[in-house]
Amino acid sequence: MPLALEWNKAFEGGVISKTIMKTFVIGIGGVTNGGKTTLAKNLQKCLTNCRVISQDDFFKPESEIETDKNGFLQYDVLEALKMDEMMSVISDWMENPRHSLWSTDWASAEEIPILIIEGFLLFNYKPLDTIWNRSYFLTIPYEECKRRRSTRVYEPPDPPGYFDGHVWPMYLKHRREMEAIPWELVYLDGTKSEEELFSQVYEDLIHELAKQKCTQHATKPIQERSDKETPRGELDFTSNTPVT
Ligand SMILES: Nc1ncnc2c1ncn2[C@@H]1O[C@H](COP(=O)(O)OP(=O)(O)OP(=O)(O)O)[C@@H](O)[C@H]1O
Ligand SMILES: [Mg+2]
Repeated sequence: MPLALEWNKAFEGGVISKTIMKTFVIGIGGVTNGGKTTLAKNLQKCLTNCRVISQDDFFKPESEIETDKNGFLQYDVLEALKMDEMMSVISDWMENPRHSLWSTDWASAEEIPILIIEGFLLFNYKPLDTIWNRSYFLTIPYEECKRRRSTRVYEPPDPPGYFDGHVWPMYLKHRREMEAIPWELVYLDGTKSEEELFSQVYEDLIHELAKQKCTQHATKPIQERSDKETPRGELDFTSNTPVT
């Protein structure tokens, strides 16, 4: 059967399967200003066949963001993000992970394509639950987070009181929700230097990738799976509701 037809068959089942091509999907979540984007970019420089998707790129326009009773725009919630659009970009990559490399990087064609998804609300979003091959979560203490955030200029800029009135309380709420996560989340101390964080995660990834290369992929055919059986590293399109 031609490759494209096999993919269509897999997609019809509601699950993008890696039966045909192995992929490795990394999640980098964590607190605002924890260093997610920095770490993802540093890793991308050293990993072959690696694409980064940033949740930061999927915020709705300001006109569509809710405001609370204090007048604070509610940016730090899933509803402020165009998650359908982000899922569509992810599924495009899953469907054709080597696409962008075909003309530029023949030498690395044998490497497993790697996708890094980084953002502050990844592990609270149920449709992504089954996609992760490895998940990291960057934390920094309140004072350091507030300090780093005050050095940044967001669009729109944070108004006075925004960090304590919206950003930090939402982070604590999301952390509580994440306590129910059933898979292994590797917590990273975001106060370590950029270089230390890079080395720690890079070494861990090399180890995990080697394990994946050695493991015979034991995916059952799509038609034999129940909805609850989406294996790790695949995208479950049958589940559409965020964890609340
Ligand atoms: N390991 C680190 N140690 C100290 N500062 C860092 C470290 N990593 C990143 N930073 C700095 O912290 C700030 C936030 O970094 P970055 O944009 O990577 O974080 P983020 O988690 O993606 O933030 P956001 O919530 O805006 O998406 C930047 O000023 C960056 O230079
Ligand atoms: Mg960022």
